[in-house]
Amino acid sequence: MTPVLRRATAEDLPAVSAVDGRAFGYQHTPEDIEAVAKLWEPERFLLACDGEEIVGVAGSWDMTLTLPGGAPLPSPGVTWVAVAATHRRRGILRSLMTELHRGYLDDGLAVSMLTASEGTIYGRFGYGPATVERFARIERRRAVMRADVPDPGGVRYTDTDGARRHAAEVHRRWCRVQPGAVSRSEQWWDDLLLDPEWRRHGASPLFHLTHPDGYVSYRINQDDGTCRIRDFFAATGDAHVALWRLLLGLDLVETITVDDLALDDPLPFLLTDPRQVRTTGMPDGLWVRVLDVPAALSARRYAVETDVVLEVHDPFLDRGGRFRLRGGPDGATCEPTGATADVDVEIRALGSMLLGGHRASTLARAALVTGAVGRIDAAFTAEREPRFATHF
Ligand SMILES: CC(C)(COP(=O)(O)OP(=O)(O)OC[C@H]1O[C@@H](n2cnc3c(N)ncnc32)[C@H](O)[C@@H]1OP(=O)(O)O)[C@@H](O)C(=O)NCCC(=O)NCCS
Repeated sequence: MTPVLRRATAEDLPAVSAVDGRAFGYQHTPEDIEAVAKLWEPERFLLACDGEEIVGVAGSWDMTLTLPGGAPLPSPGVTWVAVAATHRRRGILRSLMTELHRGYLDDGLAVSMLTASEGTIYGRFGYGPATVERFARIERRRAVMRADVPDPGGVRYTDTDGARRHAAEVHRRWCRVQPGAVSRSEQWWDDLLLDPEWRRHGASPLFHLTHPDGYVSYRINQDDGTCRIRDFFAATGDAHVALWRLLLGLDLVETITVDDLALDDPLPFLLTDPRQVRTTGMPDGLWVRVLDVPAALSARRYAVETDVVLEVHDPFLDRGGRFRLRGGPDGATCEPTGATADVDVEIRALGSMLLGGHRASTLARAALVTGAVGRIDAAFTAEREPRFATHF
């Protein structure tokens, strides 16, 4: 069967939710659908149809991604990718991805991004894993701050309305200093703060902590004495210390868990025993696809000066070619060139390098980058390890 592709309409949401829910093994409740309806922009979603029946979906959220150096790049967050089990392995995903990305190119977008249910799916479409998430577990009673760490104070509890006002503003500031940060729209915050019973999985409602430069939300599970951090954003070092001090002082809590502690989070070094921050998992996080090599590479900053000719290979979208990149800490240019290439790079490897999360030399050892890798290795590192913090 040749699937017929069309844009979604608002009326499609229940049927699309059913396709998506079945693919992932759950059923969207009416409350889910009602909540998503406020976020959903149907024209951003493509459907594959077999007659009247919707058998495939892929779409994107309108988001922004922070590059090393702080530049925000508009970047569609590819989401809700699902094909009905009755129609798999016949090329429906490939046709949806082809059409979706044709639209991104028409819109002049420089990068797109996603999170992947399976590591095997998206490399063929030019996506590379670009950030690493760190699951961490902290035995609170043993996690003691060093005596010489200052106590900046300034932390207060607030209610949902207070969180709504404060968190979005702090998050915007945090995005400006955090490579890999993914923006949140006003509707996104509304949705996150809805906090209905069915999202709590037996734990408490969200508690909200504010600092002038930071925000934390967490839940408590009284059964096992766990504090599960949902959001942690600190735009300054003081906010980071102050918020962790508060969390580590939560009497009655035995264990604190966090699902995206940055790889370079200073928390272990603030403690008398750094080993109390135990890493329990390190899955890939955000995957990035470079759509427009000159636009993406000239928008970021580089740790050291580099002047290099890259040969980029892009079998899926044919957006590769030979480009001269001149960049450093203060700016960059990147343009097509006929000069001899210094480095050959697969488009998915460029996605893995873009945020500074994976080194060119590592990808070279995996044969995804070849040539004079030393010319770009240090330059592509970032001021901080990338962290995206918004699952979509
Ligand atoms: C992943 C999924 C959308 C693929 O849909 P599909 O229509 O069967 O995919 P296609 O037939 O277009 O396959 C495209 C290519 O990807 C490969 N592929 C697809 N799904 C794959 C998988 N799960 N593992 C490995 N390879 C996969 C195909 O072999 C094919 O390769 P080729 O074009 O290089 O020959 C579908 O299996 C699904 O809905 N899975 C459950 C939900 C899910 O995981 N969604 C992704 C969310 S991030």
